Amino acid sequence: MNAMNLTVLILAAGQGTRMKSRRAKVLHELAGRPLIGHVCRTALSLSPSRVIAVVGHQGESVAEVFLNEMKHMAPDVPAATVFQHEQRGTGHAVRMAEALLAGTDGTLLVLSGDVPLLTGETLKTLLDAHHSDKYAATVLTTEMPDPTGYGRVVREVIGDFGHIVEHRDASPAEREIREINAGIYAFEIATLFPALEKITPANAQGEYYLPDALKILKHDGHPVGVVCHHAHEEILGINSRAELAAAAAYFRHRKVSELMRDGVTVIDPATTYVDADVTIGMDSVLYPNVTLDGATVVGENCRIHSGSRLSNATLADNVTVKEHSLVFDSRLDTGATVGPFAHLRMNAHLRAGAVVGNFVEVKKSTLGEKSKAMHLSYLGDATLGDRVNIGAGTITCNYDGKNKHATVIEDGAKIGSDTMLVAPVTIGAGAMTGAGSVVTKDVPEHTLVAGVPATVKKKLDTPTQ
Ligand code: UD1
Ligand code: CA
Repeated sequence: MNAMNLTVLILAAGQGTRMKSRRAKVLHELAGRPLIGHVCRTALSLSPSRVIAVVGHQGESVAEVFLNEMKHMAPDVPAATVFQHEQRGTGHAVRMAEALLAGTDGTLLVLSGDVPLLTGETLKTLLDAHHSDKYAATVLTTEMPDPTGYGRVVREVIGDFGHIVEHRDASPAEREIREINAGIYAFEIATLFPALEKITPANAQGEYYLPDALKILKHDGHPVGVVCHHAHEEILGINSRAELAAAAAYFRHRKVSELMRDGVTVIDPATTYVDADVTIGMDSVLYPNVTLDGATVVGENCRIHSGSRLSNATLADNVTVKEHSLVFDSRLDTGATVGPFAHLRMNAHLRAGAVVGNFVEVKKSTLGEKSKAMHLSYLGDATLGDRVNIGAGTITCNYDGKNKHATVIEDGAKIGSDTMLVAPVTIGAGAMTGAGSVVTKDVPEHTLVAGVPATVKKKLDTPTQ
């Protein structure tokens, strides 16, 4: 196959009424990526010479997301959008690209923006059949256990392709057919557009149906092929929230299976939620009920315990995240330990071997190598050197009501329990603060400060029993 001659067209102009949403259907997310982003990713695996999206309903936002996804995934592949101002059917939608395709020959692969689970391998099979048998059009089909709502493939007596009838137009006998149209087609551009002109909206929805082009091509003497794919889950079209959930479940299953194949231990695949773009190194272990989302990267031999969520987190090797910890937009270097019940956010950075324990929140702060904050602390806008120890209950008072201020704690300093560090403040290397100190001035290195000791005020009455 000559990749130079492959153009991909993604249909994404429909409203998606059944989603009952203010957002266009193809912008709904599945495993952290908009539906249309999944379709782009699959399309790009075929090295097409160009990808075009037909947009209409909320066209501006759909176009923006589509172009962003394309730029992000494949900046060198030309991407374009065409508008279909009135949604008059899938056949009408493809015609919108006619001007853009003028002078282009080769094959047009038509994909649906709402069929996100399709793989590149399946499309390769479709294109191989299309090219080797020199079809003018080839349609992807599958046997659906419940074909309700889909277009049915009506075969001729000898089994050849006959035509496709939409569910709403189908007779009771036709509705018994379980082979459905996936809404995915390869067309030779040269013969496609003349056929599209012949489609009429004489059907239940009064729309121009793209599947009718197949019947017309066949009628005009062009060969039409069918590729029936075995994995019907891949072909699931998203039209409702229930279908979105079903597709997400299937996607999760596939993603987790890939992780296990690549050497990750997943204790309970059914309760492990991993977004599309997440990567995890060999011998890492995911305990039940963890969520890894966004662009999270986990190194080798890490352990992520139950109830934790990592979002856009970067973990080096040998990192442990104990139960019920949240790590957002943060980085954990090799051997770092977090949790249980810790919260790291906004560029928190734990250097090698640093430890953040129970009920500690770390915001926009760095802990140097082997530094520890084991219990009940808030570290915000702080920079800690190496081997610093933060006692239980320490708080960086980083906010004066208007501005945020920085705290610096140099190598080897020991902060006593319940110290209030009133920023901006610097604690010098090797310095110590006594329990309960309120530190408002910089502390020179190797110096002990302590403050606000409790003194006896009065004798209390003997408490009544
Ligand atoms: C379509 C097929 C059906 C197939 C099913 C597979 C037609 C007439 N029917 O039905 O045979 O079984 O997909 O999922 O094609 N769109 C536009 N402009 C329009 C109408 C639709 O761009 O005017 C886009 C939609 O945004 C969507 C795709 O085309 O991404 C499919 O449209 P949809 O309305 O979901 O078609 P189905 O009823 O699912
Ligand atoms: Ca659909």
